[in-house]
Amino acid sequence: MNFHDSEKLSAMLQQMGYLETENKADAELIIINTCCVRENAELKVYGNLGELKRMKQKNPDLLLAICGCMMQQKHVVEKIQKSYPFVDLVFGTHNLHRFPELLNNAYQMEGLLVEVWDHEEDIQEDLPVQRKFSTKAFVNIMYGCNNFCSYCIVPYTRGRERSREPEKILEEVKELAQAGTLEVTLLGQNVNSYGKTLEETMDFADLLNQINEIPGLQRIRFMTSHPADFSEKLMNAMANLQKVSPHIHLPVQAGSNRILKDMNRKYSREQYLEKISLLKSKISGIAISTDIIVGFPGETEEDFQDTLDLIRQVEYDSAFTFLYSIRTGTPAANMEKQVPERDKMNRFNRLVDLINEIGLKKNLDLIGTTVPVLVEGVSKNNPNRLTGRTDTHKLVNFDGQESHIGTIVPVTITEAKTFSLLGTLHK
Ligand code: 5AD
Ligand code: SF4
Repeated sequence: MNFHDSEKLSAMLQQMGYLETENKADAELIIINTCCVRENAELKVYGNLGELKRMKQKNPDLLLAICGCMMQQKHVVEKIQKSYPFVDLVFGTHNLHRFPELLNNAYQMEGLLVEVWDHEEDIQEDLPVQRKFSTKAFVNIMYGCNNFCSYCIVPYTRGRERSREPEKILEEVKELAQAGTLEVTLLGQNVNSYGKTLEETMDFADLLNQINEIPGLQRIRFMTSHPADFSEKLMNAMANLQKVSPHIHLPVQAGSNRILKDMNRKYSREQYLEKISLLKSKISGIAISTDIIVGFPGETEEDFQDTLDLIRQVEYDSAFTFLYSIRTGTPAANMEKQVPERDKMNRFNRLVDLINEIGLKKNLDLIGTTVPVLVEGVSKNNPNRLTGRTDTHKLVNFDGQESHIGTIVPVTITEAKTFSLLGTLHK
């Protein structure tokens, strides 16, 4: 979400005549687009501000702006006003489209300009986007979240759920496909509840059906899905629509029913596992990834064992793993029995070991198979190799020619690592 917001900011800057610098020290304008989901990301921002203060002292003409969902929190803006008064402009997520005007205003005034809107407005269409990749693109289909998971700050900073009009989404994807984009990732905090705020009767499976028809487009991906809203109709759409990738990112967060209830996740481990087995029966070879939080308040070793057990049953291809982080203003922040850091770290390490072990095993199973790879570019670690992704979103490095970039080619897998695969072009 933030990455895609940055693509919009880049495009607005480009329209204003700005050029991107390779080197931070050459910049006349620096914008930090923040995330507030976990404390670590917030701490990084304050760390960066220390460095930027020194840059600003050397070059008083440097303009500093901070935006993103961290700014949607009052206490953060107050902290910046008090402790980082050298910042020139602060704005939030709901008024991103006002950035060009705010930037002009910031240039014309002394001191810090703050404009953060408490509430979301109607969806802003027609914002420019400067796409960072030519083969794949992100497309927002909805904004905000109504779920209020007890640990999560997003509903407070991104506002209530709003779906984009399907015509606008289709128009954007068609334009992308015509310009050569092969893969789109449809974005929303909970794509499974797409359509609820629309006047017409339409859900996410219907939207996938229509996007699947767009000529030129090869792959459709989406994130994130909430397990409670993940319907059989959607599973059938995934199974039947040829362009929809056989991959699902389905955050489970925890494997213990008690913790899931306290998290306000609205499903039990049994319901989650049932959906996974139905999905596996409908789409053979489907890749499954997830998000897991360890150390949620009140989590015992037994609860944690339930999480490990669920991971073994699902056999995830990969997972994003997080240490629970207190977010001021969320219900979980005030829960008793916060888990000591030492226990959290200890569980986290065991969790990562298991995830990696299963991820490697699943990758090893692919050796000898031939898979379609969307070639994204030259490998960062080895300039003689190309890099791309399978339709299950696995990273593959292989020997190929530059002319393969931007196409889908068959690659035979020869070697497997925990986070990537090695292969040769299938002739
Ligand atoms: N602490 C740790 N992880 C969190 N996430 C969201 N809020 C928190 C928090 N307070 C994780 C969830 C979510 C992912 C985007 O971030 O796993 O799915
Ligand atoms: Fe946060 Fe839950 Fe909404 Fe995801 S579904 S954004 S975790 S409140």
